[in-house]
Amino acid sequence: MQEKVKALLKKHNITLAAHYYQKDEIFDIADLSGDSLELAKKTAALKNPLIFCGVSFMGQSAKILNPNIPVYMPKLACCSMARMAEEGKVEENIKTLKENNIDFIPITYINSSAKVKAIVGELGGLTCTSSNAKKIVSHILNQGKKIFFLPDKNLGQNIARMMGVSSSVIGDINFQEADIICYDGHCSVHQVFMPEHIEFYKEKFPDIKIVVHPECSPEVCEMADFVGSTSQIINYVKENPNKRMAIGTEYNLVQRMKRDINPNIYVLSSTKPECPSMNETSLEELYNLLKAIDEGNPYNEIEVDKSVQENALKALQRMMELS
Ligand code: 13P
Ligand code: SF4
Repeated sequence: MQEKVKALLKKHNITLAAHYYQKDEIFDIADLSGDSLELAKKTAALKNPLIFCGVSFMGQSAKILNPNIPVYMPKLACCSMARMAEEGKVEENIKTLKENNIDFIPITYINSSAKVKAIVGELGGLTCTSSNAKKIVSHILNQGKKIFFLPDKNLGQNIARMMGVSSSVIGDINFQEADIICYDGHCSVHQVFMPEHIEFYKEKFPDIKIVVHPECSPEVCEMADFVGSTSQIINYVKENPNKRMAIGTEYNLVQRMKRDINPNIYVLSSTKPECPSMNETSLEELYNLLKAIDEGNPYNEIEVDKSVQENALKALQRMMELS
């Protein structure tokens, strides 16, 4: 089926982009891959139609940054963290911050809906990804403002710890005093990694390196040897060949690094850390979409409301300028 997919992609001059968490059957034939920031940059530069295999916010970001090309997704799978940042609740949090006279700029992790990006863009805020969060946060703190960081409280708190500034979650005692005030959201996949998993591996293999994504809890990140975005994790693994490692991120990526780079890699958790949303897309779904395009009945073309597009673009562009 991979050959049929490749032939249809070629026939219609369509670029296939895939996030690292996609199944191998798709990832292995993709034209473009990368972490969220790299994918946003690469897809923004395209001049031809795009099929994006990932979660909805990724296809939406590609469309917002590059509105003149058609963007399709085989599955409109929604990241559970993005779903936690429900617009009404975000607006309620912003109202609370304003009522407390807090001088803040909102930063939304790119794992959020276009509508939430638009709310943030309208307030003069911007997006960030796991690979540039520190840079974006420094930029705002240097302006003497506090930050409302959403939706991932773990990423917000981890960045605060790395930078030596204070953080809290909105609603916690004295949250008003923190430099970075976080929305109460998290990733359901990265929350499975626990300090006891690190203790287990360290005891079993004293020389093991612990490598995790910054969506893991602050306790886990503090105990890790390396914390980074998916691309940064891959680079770390490549730069340390033959080192035994236990990795705390999505299963498909961990298994692929074990297959392609280093056989001495372990999954950090005791359960399989699969992202259900990323795994919704299969090679068969991709083929079905391409067949429909070939027959002149395309579906799942990403569209973003004009009013949302304008402000969401501001938030994304401000990030791009700083990256
Ligand atoms: P990256 O930007 O590090 O690829 O992360 C995307 C993501 O969804 C992690 O859960
Ligand atoms: Fe969203 Fe977590 Fe899946 Fe990443 S791993 S797409 S943050 S649910």
